Amino acid sequence: MSAVFTSPLDLDHVRAQFPELQRVTYLNVGTYGLVPECALQKELEAVAAFDRGGQACKVELGGIQERVRQRVAAMLGAGPEEIAITRNATDGNNLVLAGLDWKPGDEIISTDEEHPSLQHPLLYLQKTKGLKVHWLPISHDADEMVGRIAAAASPRTRLIAMSHVPCETGTRLPAKEIAKWAAERGILSHFDGAQCVGAVRIDVKDIGCDFYALNGHKWTCGPKGTGFFYARKERIEDLKPAHVGAGSLEKADQAAGIAEPWPDGRRFEFGTRCWSILAGYDATMDWFESLGWDNVYEHVAHLSDYLKSEILARPHLKLLTPVAIEHSSGLVVFAMPGRDPEAAASEVRDKWQIYTRMVLGGTGIRISTAHFNSREDIDLLLRHMDEFCESHPSSAGKDGS
Ligand SMILES: Cc1ncc(COP(=O)(O)O)c(C=O)c1O
Repeated sequence: MSAVFTSPLDLDHVRAQFPELQRVTYLNVGTYGLVPECALQKELEAVAAFDRGGQACKVELGGIQERVRQRVAAMLGAGPEEIAITRNATDGNNLVLAGLDWKPGDEIISTDEEHPSLQHPLLYLQKTKGLKVHWLPISHDADEMVGRIAAAASPRTRLIAMSHVPCETGTRLPAKEIAKWAAERGILSHFDGAQCVGAVRIDVKDIGCDFYALNGHKWTCGPKGTGFFYARKERIEDLKPAHVGAGSLEKADQAAGIAEPWPDGRRFEFGTRCWSILAGYDATMDWFESLGWDNVYEHVAHLSDYLKSEILARPHLKLLTPVAIEHSSGLVVFAMPGRDPEAAASEVRDKWQIYTRMVLGGTGIRISTAHFNSREDIDLLLRHMDEFCESHPSSAGKDGS
């Protein structure tokens, strides 16, 4: 936590791409990212070209689609054939849950901090297929988390499905150790990386998981409606696509009754899509590559460290996210013992246009430290949080409880 940190990013150059930052302090890329202007222009041009021109579209969208597949694969350390283009992270979660052959009594291990994008399909599967889901408390500590999983597992456990970084506390789970433990027992592993990809480097081969879901609209600042799904080559055919249509079958023959899905990510793609927004995603990849991904990760980590150290220095705030960046990502969550954090967050938004996100049932405030944020953004937030605390005496005991 260096006081003399110099960001590897030229923040004036970065922030010039986000005109709304002149109006607001945006600390919530963990909900919705902001698309840089250079990419937004490309997105809007492609949307206009496709919707005006239809088949006569002047932008070659098929080429962009395959280029995006390759770029996402490269970002995740995967092969392009292992990537499906989806609409959001929820799509990827459902491809796993709806794609496996379940028998009543099969078991899945998850956590008690899941976003509805995974929690709700799990609940639905539990109800409709007679499965048992274990909702475990989380820990960033590999021995502890794997120990909890091992204690919950049974011979009927078929899948581990959880967020890589659950959105409630921003704790990074030990995905590599979990995937290894699962693979050694013939159990499949799936992670939802919505709060990871674009904030910290992700290598799905190093993690060793079977499946990984992500969206394009958060930390990678792509258009809303972009998402991707990774399925390990050896496992891809274990997932039966629940939706099949034009584009998803390698062989189809009505007379012979043949229907064979592609043995790659295309098996999950079908029908007409808003391909034009992928032009925007392609351009956000250009943007990040021009900055350098390592510089982006370093900046996000630095701001995260800085914010955590400032929270720890304030007795009226309580840090709820692990301190080490290896055990977190770009999310930082804090509580305000004895005070109403929801009132504080509303006040800073309404008075000062500072955008944050409530978590933990309204008891925690979540901050996202994105590549376009500055130390000044964090100082401003904390100054107004301090003012709120000064003008709202705590009802907590001396121990902060
Ligand atoms: C862990 C996690 N997964 C998924 C989502 C939602 O993803 P999407 O809207 O792309 O389906 C969120 C959004 O906050 C999230 O935090």
